[in-house]
Amino acid sequence: MREKKIAVVVLAAGKSTRMKSNLTKVLHPVAGRALITYSIGEVLRLEPDKIVLVVGPKTEKSFKDVLGADRRIKYCVQKKALGTGDAVHSTKRELKNFKGLALIIPGDVPLISAETLNAFITKFRKEDYTVGVLSTDIPDPFSYGRIIRNHEGEFVCIREERDATEDERQISEINTGIIIVKSEWLLHALRLIKPHNAQKEYYLTDIVEHAIKDGRKVMAEEFTPCEEFIGVNNRGELSRVNKLMYAKIAKRWMSKGVSILDPDTTYIDGTVLIDENVTIMPNCFIRGATEIGAGSTIENGVVLTDMIIGENVHIKPYSVMEKSVLKDGVIAGPFARVRPDSILEKNVHIGNFVEVKKSHLKSGAKANHLTYLGDSVVGERTNVGCGTITCNYDGKNKHKTIIGDEVFIGSDVQFIAPVHVGSKSTIGAGSTITKNVPFGALALSRAPQVNVGGYYKRKKK
Ligand code: UD1
Ligand code: MG
Repeated sequence: MREKKIAVVVLAAGKSTRMKSNLTKVLHPVAGRALITYSIGEVLRLEPDKIVLVVGPKTEKSFKDVLGADRRIKYCVQKKALGTGDAVHSTKRELKNFKGLALIIPGDVPLISAETLNAFITKFRKEDYTVGVLSTDIPDPFSYGRIIRNHEGEFVCIREERDATEDERQISEINTGIIIVKSEWLLHALRLIKPHNAQKEYYLTDIVEHAIKDGRKVMAEEFTPCEEFIGVNNRGELSRVNKLMYAKIAKRWMSKGVSILDPDTTYIDGTVLIDENVTIMPNCFIRGATEIGAGSTIENGVVLTDMIIGENVHIKPYSVMEKSVLKDGVIAGPFARVRPDSILEKNVHIGNFVEVKKSHLKSGAKANHLTYLGDSVVGERTNVGCGTITCNYDGKNKHKTIIGDEVFIGSDVQFIAPVHVGSKSTIGAGSTITKNVPFGALALSRAPQVNVGGYYKRKKK
């Protein structure tokens, strides 16, 4: 017998009331990505015959922004959030001619996996069921729909928290919201649902009772671990899911040869790429499109956003960097700050309290202490002394400081941009450089020192 086709319906048109937010619940970030992207990603891995995403009015564009223009995803708009049953009903345009199975997934359950969904579908196909519910046993079932069974243990219905009796609320087997239904019967059943409940909503879950009344077979199958099915309805659950997602991501990188000293306090976004033999110490945030090359070490408290990091790079504690490139062998920090559009070529060293912005530090350049390099180029093997400042801003415009190769810059130097400094030149400590410096010259702009003898005695009088 030919396996039945699968259409997956993902529900994301709810009002998000409990989040107390203007942002649609499933667009809130989890490990750096919109919550909805996780379940959609797993659904795409299933390779179903059809994917339908139910969204609220005027939200379609926001969804397309985070999911990209993926033509496999068909959008249906639920005009008013009248409940999960009504949400599925709003897909009738897509489902009415679809013959097969409809797998319905709530968009607010981001930790589910394609493997679990597949196992659930396989179980459902074993017998002639009309409705199947993926259930789980959860220590704190508050707010979930409970799986109600009769004395024989047969599944009879789902009761929502607000409609449940005290006894029913003690039941720890819950509806994960993942439900599979024969699609030919589904649209008929949805028309039978009435909003006769505490929330005055059209509950999708009511189709279980209608199926039984119709003499059809229903199934509620328990899956573990329950963490995979946590629904995000409020900020507390969002925080819990974030934690679990970061743990899942850390586990994946550890299995690929990344050392993570303390996964509980390491926050790697789902969008990051990491090579083998990288070591990440506690309290780091690694975000966005960051990539880290083999053998690099990221020490504690480092925050990296959209960074491209080469091989054997060493970032020391409490450095904060964004939208820049660190090539192989760079050493940075502690307390280094790299702001957007900077390139640190091979073996560049920047030390404590060095800030680099929109600057290109060529290979072997060093700026080891207390320095600001903005809108600048620093040549190969140039040594930037402690307390150097590129004065790039005249109050209106930004100007460039171009420094050649093998320049020796003494401590406490200011470059008043725009200015060019020739290769192999030396800048005396304490100089304020306002004019270009030629190749190989010594530039010195200190005021001559005056020593006034006997000054202490005169002052005392
Ligand atoms: C739902 C289930 C509950 C289950 C829980 C699992 C119902 C009636 N209840 O409750 O049994 O234990 O999920 O997490 O189905 N949505 C729409 N349109 C609507 C309402 C909701 O698209 O009109 C979407 C939401 O965006 C969300 C999903 O459906 O992604 C579930 O809705 P939600 O309000 O979170 O339902 P729960 O109270 O969690
Ligand atoms: Mg929910």
